[in-house]
Amino acid sequence: MKIDILSPPKAGQFAAECATIHASAFAPTGARSWTVKEFEDLLERKTILLLREEHSFLLVEIIQGEAEILTLAVHPDKQNQGFAGYLLQNFFEECATYAVRQCILEVAEDNSAAIKLYQRFNFETITIRKNYFKRKTKFVSAFVMKKCFFNQKN
Ligand SMILES: CC(C)(COP(=O)(O)OP(=O)(O)OC[C@H]1O[C@@H](n2cnc3c(N)ncnc32)[C@H](O)[C@@H]1OP(=O)(O)O)[C@@H](O)C(=O)NCCC(=O)NCCS
Repeated sequence: MKIDILSPPKAGQFAAECATIHASAFAPTGARSWTVKEFEDLLERKTILLLREEHSFLLVEIIQGEAEILTLAVHPDKQNQGFAGYLLQNFFEECATYAVRQCILEVAEDNSAAIKLYQRFNFETITIRKNYFKRKTKFVSAFVMKKCFFNQKN
């Protein structure tokens, strides 16, 4: 599997692809899909890194050695086949280049697939944000998870 690792301006051309994958991946959760315009705006930021292939993508923001996973999505037909793990692995290898010291993310407390995936990569829950994500008919709390990089091998 070949992954592109892109920053602006090249990343911007994949805004529509990201929106399509995001909508299909998050539809079963009841979460709101991000629009093409939202992705266009995000992918213009100089701090953004997009890792993508045709069925999946990982969007990260890196500011002064602190990375935040903004979103991660795999098309439902391709889930549980290692795509997300491969994207994350590629990102962690890239982290040394950007001198990343830590990576944080927010994940819905009922998203067991994502939580299991992040735990596999040694993310730990550092706090809970109550009723953080809005779903169609309810609010769901978020786990804030963090992974620290203690050396350049991550
Ligand atoms: C969460 C998501 C990104 C995982 O992507 P994926 O490509 O299916 O994940 P992988 O195949 O790389 O799986 C890696 C690990 O995730 C976990 N996992 C993946 N799918 C799972 C499922 N359906 N149930 C339980 N665990 C699952 C497992 O721990 C798996 O490791 P294993 O193979 O050793 O059991 C994908 O399901 C998705 O896009 N979901 C909707 C969007 C979303 O929730 N994004 C994350 C928001 S923070």
